[in-house]
Amino acid sequence: MEKRDELYAGKAKSVYRTDDPDRLILHFRDDTSAFDGKKKEALARKGMVNNKFNAFIMGKLQAAGIPTHFDGLLSDTECVVKKLDMIPVECVVRNLAAGGLVRRLGVEEGMTLTPPTFELFLKNDEKGDPMINESLAETFGWATPEQLARMKELTFKVNEVLKQLFLDGGMLLVDYKLEFGVFKGEIVLGDEFSPDGCRLWDEMTREKLDKDRFRQGLGGVIEAYEEVGRRIGIAFD
Ligand code: C5P
Repeated sequence: MEKRDELYAGKAKSVYRTDDPDRLILHFRDDTSAFDGKKKEALARKGMVNNKFNAFIMGKLQAAGIPTHFDGLLSDTECVVKKLDMIPVECVVRNLAAGGLVRRLGVEEGMTLTPPTFELFLKNDEKGDPMINESLAETFGWATPEQLARMKELTFKVNEVLKQLFLDGGMLLVDYKLEFGVFKGEIVLGDEFSPDGCRLWDEMTREKLDKDRFRQGLGGVIEAYEEVGRRIGIAFD
């Protein structure tokens, strides 16, 4: 596969065209950002850690019957994916209260959410990724009701697979964000799954092992990501 020109540079990943019109290369950079890009830093090893983390998780999800865009690793910091028509809607599931939910509703951090919640946000940095709902998504043409139903179904299926995977490593999957796209008419999981886009706490101590370490200036960000990876069986070197 031949790497061609850069199609798009996101906050943490760059996307390249290839000689295959149906395939893209994702390059995971060390860049880390939070608060809609207002806090930025390059963290050594992050690109490699998140690329391998994502490859492992996408493999688990694919094996569980969840269609993903992931095709394979290309290098320590690159992978090959199917080119999706991305749906500009972020799907968030929460098992425990944290982050935006705590800020919005004033509930206690760490409260168990029964059943887990499902939220939609518009992917739009300029507007700060505002919360939306199915009605708005349909009216403004961001996604059809059928697409939204499938995205919700797949997002909850991911929860069943990953909650158990992390629990087996002594961790709680607090919440996570997924993005989907369309490939040959089918809704497929896109983007990435890494500690940048989810919250993971140690089951016993509730120590934060995800991007909140960066957001809150707790330090040891990549060390925590690698610890999470090791606990679920990822070899980084
Ligand atoms: O900030 P909030 O609590 O709404 O985030 C919920 C989950 O979605 C967190 O795991 C967060 O890391 C993730 N998220 C993300 N990208 C966004 C918004 C949220 O990865 N743009």
